[in-house]
Amino acid sequence: MEMSRKDFLRLGLAGGVALFVPAGAVACGSGVLPSGGGNNSAQGSAGTVLRSGLELPKPFQVPLPIPPVLKPVRRTGDADHYEITQRVAKAEILPGVTTEVWGYDGIFPGPTVESRRGRRTVVRHRNELGVPTVVHLHGGRTPAEHDGYPTDMIAPVSGWDDDHAHGGALARGAKTYEYPLDQPAATLWYHDHRMDFTGPAVYRGLAGFHLVRDDEEEALDLPAGERDVPLMITDRSFTEDGAFHYPSRTPSLRGQPGVEDDYMSGVLGDCVLVNGAPWPVLEVTATRYRFRLLNASNARRYRLALDPPPPGGTSFVQIGSDLGLLARPVRHERIDIAQAERFDVVVDFSRYRVGEQVTLVNELGDDGTAQVMRFVVTRRAADDSRVPDRLADVRPLTRSDATVTRELTFQRGGAEAHGMTLWTVNGKPFDPNRVDARPALGSVELWKIRTLNVEHPIHVHLAEGQVLSKGQNGRPGPYDAGRKDTVNLDNGGQAEILLRFDGYRGKYVFHCHNLEHEDMMMMSNFEVV
Ligand code: C2O
Ligand code: CU
Ligand code: CU
Repeated sequence: MEMSRKDFLRLGLAGGVALFVPAGAVACGSGVLPSGGGNNSAQGSAGTVLRSGLELPKPFQVPLPIPPVLKPVRRTGDADHYEITQRVAKAEILPGVTTEVWGYDGIFPGPTVESRRGRRTVVRHRNELGVPTVVHLHGGRTPAEHDGYPTDMIAPVSGWDDDHAHGGALARGAKTYEYPLDQPAATLWYHDHRMDFTGPAVYRGLAGFHLVRDDEEEALDLPAGERDVPLMITDRSFTEDGAFHYPSRTPSLRGQPGVEDDYMSGVLGDCVLVNGAPWPVLEVTATRYRFRLLNASNARRYRLALDPPPPGGTSFVQIGSDLGLLARPVRHERIDIAQAERFDVVVDFSRYRVGEQVTLVNELGDDGTAQVMRFVVTRRAADDSRVPDRLADVRPLTRSDATVTRELTFQRGGAEAHGMTLWTVNGKPFDPNRVDARPALGSVELWKIRTLNVEHPIHVHLAEGQVLSKGQNGRPGPYDAGRKDTVNLDNGGQAEILLRFDGYRGKYVFHCHNLEHEDMMMMSNFEVV
């Protein structure tokens, strides 16, 4: 497809905006590496490693931070009300080094919001940053006008010119998001979702946890309190003077979107942060812990394992996935986690000796990125938690539930313009005004998704998904259990996913959650009718 000049103007791409992958660029897992990148093949992820300009600290020197739980400003009969200010702040992420973050309430990760199933959560976001923002509650079953559509922006309090709103709604200075959260207990997260600029905004810090709790889950005696720990894993690169290093074409994020050519496939950092701290340490008692693993990285995928594994095996007992508890636990020695996926796991440290150090490693990484964080087993302690064989009543969807089948191909290419090649869905770049699917409210659809060129984690807003098959063997992969909102596809991979479009009518997006791909147009609309 040749894009016409008119298409360009309509998409807001006029003026040589460089949203595109140069037609000649290698964009794959074994792709381009900048000088000094070594032969690490981009470490199992689409993207290019951006090296830090300063010496990174030794791993396992700083304690794991736990993001503070946000307190409501008021509670009414059926709702909890919160306020968050998005602002620039200074943080000490690397010891002795100051890094500027864009944070929810000035912190990275943002404060954790905790909701009770069925109680409305109302969050007023005030934007004190220099650019518009959009807040999306990832995994939330949310009415369209509160879902954080990429052009429904909050203009900065300091003002913004309407012409840059791409025709979406522009709230002035603040917006109140209402979340019904009539959905099962789950680990959700919120992050920026502004059209064309999600990658750099999240990279600077606009991401936080939003946990939903309910009675069913609490009746299970899973590890709780201090033994229920959210872990947001991200990779970052730092400049010489300690800033987050991101290869934006326009570092102010007020002009041309996109990244420098070498990073079109994804931006990979060389420093792993967990809850915003480099390779941190958590002291644990010799008991069971629940870890809510979230990969909030822009482009990096991880293969997580424990080193050493516990005697007798079974490092991780998975109890939940993106959208809540599994029907039954699943045992893993390692876990592949793509961007935006969540794995809720229990690790039993009673199987280790007191004093033992257990490292959470990334088998896809090398050098610094081969390690994530460390646990130190400090002492024995009482533990009345357990992991029951039955966790939740989940009615699995079946092929015959689907009334519509769609085929979607995610690729680099299919649309070219000016010698550049776009990241596309069925050959088309994102257009806020084009709707590609109209599922009926309450219906189930079968989406056959596949990738060309590189790996892509595919995320569908609103819908509850289930992987029916992956690859050629007619079954889901080992990491696909449960209710999913993001499905990881390898390079050349394919999957059949069942999606239930429940809750609300309206226009939502689905997209690749490699944030560089998303910003460079690998996104599309569906409208629930
Ligand atoms: Cu986590 Cu549409 O995003
Ligand atoms: Cu989402
Ligand atoms: Cu992608």
